Amino acid sequence: MPLPPARRINSRGRRLDPLALLEHQGRDLDLELLRAQRDRSVIAHPDLPRDVVVELCHLGAHMEASDVASCHPLDGKLVITAFFEPSTRTRLSFESAVARLDGKLLSVPDAKVTGVAKGESLQDIGEMFNSYGDLVVMRHTRTEALEEIGTGLELPLVNAGNGSGEHPTQALVDWYALLKWRPCLADPEPAEDQRIHLGVVGTPGSMRAVKSFVFMALAFAPAIRRLTVVSEMADPFGADLHGAIERTAIPVEVTNDISEVLPELDVVYMNSIALLGDSYKQLDSRYRITTDSPLRPDAVIMHPLARRDELDVSLDDSRHNLYFAQAAGAVYLRQALLVSLLGRVHRLPFFD
Ligand code: CP
Repeated sequence: MPLPPARRINSRGRRLDPLALLEHQGRDLDLELLRAQRDRSVIAHPDLPRDVVVELCHLGAHMEASDVASCHPLDGKLVITAFFEPSTRTRLSFESAVARLDGKLLSVPDAKVTGVAKGESLQDIGEMFNSYGDLVVMRHTRTEALEEIGTGLELPLVNAGNGSGEHPTQALVDWYALLKWRPCLADPEPAEDQRIHLGVVGTPGSMRAVKSFVFMALAFAPAIRRLTVVSEMADPFGADLHGAIERTAIPVEVTNDISEVLPELDVVYMNSIALLGDSYKQLDSRYRITTDSPLRPDAVIMHPLARRDELDVSLDDSRHNLYFAQAAGAVYLRQALLVSLLGRVHRLPFFD
């Protein structure tokens, strides 16, 4: 395997080592499972069952630990990033992932640069994409937008966030960070003292990244000792999460008192921005974590970002900061996803 290149990793907060995950897995990649992802779309949590999540994280760790660029894995492939809603991390990490693997990009950074500004339908835009690229990564303010473009589109479609619907690749990024932090969370039966009390500060029903993260957490039930949701709302889950929560064996509770639960949490997943209709709203703004908050000494904080004032910058240089490492890992995890969906796993150098 080629030597790892110099890595530009997060400069503040905890750093996560992909070798920790690779050493814990201690096995070859499941090539058959990765190859089976070819030409699939990723729209919502059912498209990412637990075994696929673990294998994409496993491949992401190989991507992060190795020099794969010299194999040009996406040479000749063209990815369309169609963002009809603003993004910093998702669009740029997808584009970085493609560029670093020698694929090509068509980037739509804003709805205003498409025919949408003239009233064109998403169905017609999907029809055009069929002849312009090989895969579409799309974000939109409306939940139903994926369905609309899907009626004209024949390419694999990756949901990069649809209104208050889902953000499944953010959940992949989140679990990639968690599995590098504590690799045994992927085990069928993690040791009792390794299982986590997971706290979610936010409203999953109105926050797509939080919703997808919780759906994925339910798929890792043996790793979760307890799930506590801290929200201003009495019922923060929304209709589609309700059934899954009812079916899980994980003890789940909801509280509006963050100070009561914070000292017990191993992992705190935060968010405050919700897209309601066409505008961003800050929910749960009374919850704020700073270096003065009663966190366990070894607790880690995750956040999909962007943040407002719920996550104080005083935490950035602390050991609680997992959120910068979480964002930094997005490139490798998205490389793993794209190589799999575009059928280029065989181009990787791990199988000599
Ligand atoms: N995590 C995330 O979705 O961030 P962006 O909105 O910047 O893409």
